[in-house]
Amino acid sequence: MYDFDKTIELWDPLSHKWGSFPEDVIPMFVAVMDFEATPAVCDALNTRLKNRVFGYERAGDQFLDTASGWFKRVYGLDVPRDWLLPLTGIVPALAALANLTPHAAVLTNTPNYVGLLRAPEYAGKKVIRSPLITERAPDGLLRYRLDYDDLKRRAAGTGVFYLTNPLNPVGKVFERSELEELSRFANEERLIVLSDEIHCELIYGKRHIPYFDVDPDNSIALYAAGKICNIAGLPHAFAVVPNPELRERVRRIALTMGHPGTLEYVAAEAAFSAKSDEWKRELNDYLAANRDYLESELRRRFPDADFPHTDATYLQWIDFGRYIDGGAKQFLREHAKVELTDGVSFGGAEEHVRLNFGCPRFRLAEALDRIENAINSGGGLRRTGAAP
Ligand SMILES: Cc1ncc(COP(=O)(O)O)c(C=O)c1O
Repeated sequence: MYDFDKTIELWDPLSHKWGSFPEDVIPMFVAVMDFEATPAVCDALNTRLKNRVFGYERAGDQFLDTASGWFKRVYGLDVPRDWLLPLTGIVPALAALANLTPHAAVLTNTPNYVGLLRAPEYAGKKVIRSPLITERAPDGLLRYRLDYDDLKRRAAGTGVFYLTNPLNPVGKVFERSELEELSRFANEERLIVLSDEIHCELIYGKRHIPYFDVDPDNSIALYAAGKICNIAGLPHAFAVVPNPELRERVRRIALTMGHPGTLEYVAAEAAFSAKSDEWKRELNDYLAANRDYLESELRRRFPDADFPHTDATYLQWIDFGRYIDGGAKQFLREHAKVELTDGVSFGGAEEHVRLNFGCPRFRLAEALDRIENAINSGGGLRRTGAAP
C-alpha cells in the first residue's frame, strides 16, 4: 500500500540531516529516515490543527490508554496506565535519570548509542564503559554479547546500568535468556536497569522482549515513536516502571523535564495506535530488504570489511579498517561525499562507521557506488586483503 521508493524533497536548510552539508553529499549519519512520517500521524496532526485552540489540555490521558493497548497488541502484555510516565524525549530522560542514585557514575556497554554515552555527563555523572565481546558467527558476520567478568570489575561506584535494546549501532536484539542474565547481574550488583527501547519496532525476524517483563521490580524501560514513525522532530517518550517505589522516584525526576506538548501527544497517540500498524509492517519489510541488499553488496564489494548481521534498527555498523587508512568517516566524507557517523563517538574505533539505510534503495545503491569508487581510486588506502 505504501511506496518507500518514492522520491521526496528532503533538502531543507533547517534539516539537521539534509541541511548540514552541501547538496551533493548523501547524508547517512543521524538516525532519521528519508521517508515521510507515518500517514496516521500526519492525518491526526492535520485534524488537530483545524481546532485552532492550544490551551493546557489532558491529551496525555488518551495517549496512556493507547500506549497500554499497544503493549497488549504487540507484546501480549498487560500494562496498567499507572505504570506509564510521559517524558519529553529519551535523551533528556537518559540525562535526568542518571540522578536516580547518588553514585557518581552509571555503567553501560560499548559500542553504544552516542546520545546514551553522553547524556549522563550532562547531569554531571561519569559513564563507565564495558566493551562487548565480539564473536564471529557461522555466517561469517559479527555478533556481540555482554562481558560479565568485565562488567563485574567495573560495577563498583555505579548505581544504574544503561541498556540499549535493540542495540544501536550494532543492530543486536537481546534474547530473553540474555536479559535474564543481565537481571541476575544487576540485582547482585544492586544496579537499577534503565532500558532504552526506542528501536523496538524496527526489527527483522526477531522478537523484542521488553525488559520490564523480565524484571518488573528493578527496571525502567523507555519507549518513543520517534524512530519507527520517523517523527524525531516531535519530541516525546514514556517510561514503564512497574515498581511503585521506583516509579515515584522517576516521576519526581521527570517533573524537572516538563511535559510533552499537545501536538506531540497527538502524534504519539496516532503512532502507537493500530492505525499505524500496517504502515509499520510494510516499512519493516522494506528495511529488511534494504538490510539484505546492503549485506550482500558489502560482501561482494568489500569482502574484507567486517560487520554484524543487523537484526534491528536501520543502522549498519561497518569496519573498513582493511580498506581505509585512518579515519573512515573523514575519508568517505572527502572522497565519496557520503556522510556517515564515526565509530569513535559510539565507543568504537576510527575505522568503524555507522551507515543509515533508512532510505530508498536507489540512494543506498548510489552511496555504495560512491564508497566503492572512493576506495578503488586509492588515496592512502590499503588494498583488499592486505593486513590491517
Ligand atoms: C538508542 C537511541 N535512543 C534514543 C535516541 C533519541 O531519542 P530522543 O530523540 O527521544 O531523544 C536515539 C536516536 O538516534 C537512539 O538511537
